[in-house]
Amino acid sequence: MKIVQYPHPALRHKASPVTTIDKQLSVQIGQMIELMYENSGLGLAGPQVALPLQVIVMNFVGDAEQKDQEFVAINPVIVESRGTLEEREGCLSFPGLYQKVRRAKTVRVQAYNLKGELYEMNVSDLPARVWQHEIDHLNGVLFIDKMSELGRLASRKAIEEFIAEYEQARKKGEIPADLEPKL
Ligand code: CO
Repeated sequence: MKIVQYPHPALRHKASPVTTIDKQLSVQIGQMIELMYENSGLGLAGPQVALPLQVIVMNFVGDAEQKDQEFVAINPVIVESRGTLEEREGCLSFPGLYQKVRRAKTVRVQAYNLKGELYEMNVSDLPARVWQHEIDHLNGVLFIDKMSELGRLASRKAIEEFIAEYEQARKKGEIPADLEPKL
């Protein structure tokens, strides 16, 4: 399992709801958690590892030692959003790129855990930002889509570099053929 970087087409696929939580899915989620910590991320979504399922892993402090901050969210939904807050954020599929994004300040979310139990959470500020960012991934939505015009302009060069790097990797055959963009 590997984190795919922009503009890998898997990042634009809409993830399907999970219908069964089996051994295979548990193993895949375990690998996603490991990858998240290895890359010092606060969250990782299925499409980012080319797994087109509605699965998210998060740790709001990015610390593997703090398991109380670690969450697995299967088929997550935002049931309520309140307020707005513009803060800088990044994404493991855009290493090194940080930009301000406006999001809801507070969200109430529902999701299933690995045991298949439905849970609900009320979160504000950074944890709310992580939930919204990761749920966007499940819909093929990326933080560059949500930047202000100014933010997108400031990120243009970095985004062009991601595209050039991806193109190079693709030519070298480092990108799986079945996931190549079909133009
Ligand atoms: Co991301």
